[in-house]
Amino acid sequence: MKNRSLIFAAIFGALGLAACDEGDIQEQAADVQASGKVAQLTAHVSGLDSWSSQYSVVLAAFAEGSDYAVAQKPLPEDAEGDVQTTLNLTGDALTTVELCVTNRLRQRVVSFASVPVSQLQADTLRLDAGNVDLGMFTTIQELVFTGTCARCHGLGNSPAGGLTLAAGESYAALVGQPSSHPERGVRVVPGNATVSLLHKVIHGDPESGVKFDHSNMIKEARTITLIDNWINAGANP
Ligand code: HEC
Repeated sequence: MKNRSLIFAAIFGALGLAACDEGDIQEQAADVQASGKVAQLTAHVSGLDSWSSQYSVVLAAFAEGSDYAVAQKPLPEDAEGDVQTTLNLTGDALTTVELCVTNRLRQRVVSFASVPVSQLQADTLRLDAGNVDLGMFTTIQELVFTGTCARCHGLGNSPAGGLTLAAGESYAALVGQPSSHPERGVRVVPGNATVSLLHKVIHGDPESGVKFDHSNMIKEARTITLIDNWINAGANP
């Protein structure tokens, strides 16, 4: 009897460690091998609750050359304003600790602040991220629109396609707005990426009717998915 429960414990233990998208299980695993080293985040945050369910806003540790978090801990869902949280650091190969958003594969989608593990002092690695707007739409603006799109879709008199994607202007120009060629439909239909012109354009769908190839502009598939998920989750500001 005793042996049997030990075997069960061993099996469940192994399953627990193998399940990799459960934050608290990962935390327990980290505790088991606790190295005593800890990362400590201090930040003043807003917009965390705007993320759709496919994503987690986390304090995460990454190893050299990998986009997948080795360990991560979600910020409390209702975090707003001053936040402090810690993450146990285990393993030798860690290179950075970041305040970031990961998807269900624990792959980094965007990073807001980062500190190299080499700055560890007395077993504590401090990440002071300051004021951070973590909003999902702000992220898309900074990650994609400002850097990649606004040079053609800027302010000024004649943005390409009559569409401005500059910060502060893009939301109103996209959400619920018909194309400058009305037969192309609405640029962003909240809750429905597939019918939205923005979705068709960034996927290079010829049915968009747009005569300028945008298909290779956004390099990462996860970034295109981020925009689709934002639209499907209601295209909130
Ligand atoms: C090198 C210049 C250039 C860049 C960079 C660019 N575009 Fe465009 N875009 C155009 C042109 C030109 C058109 C108009 C083509 C047409 O109307 O047939 C257009 C049209 C569009 C339209 C259709 C607008 C409408 O109302 O019909 C959308 C949506 C769009 N672009 C999104 C984007 C996004 C998102 C990015 C960044 C990932 C981007 N564009 C980057 C040149 C660019």
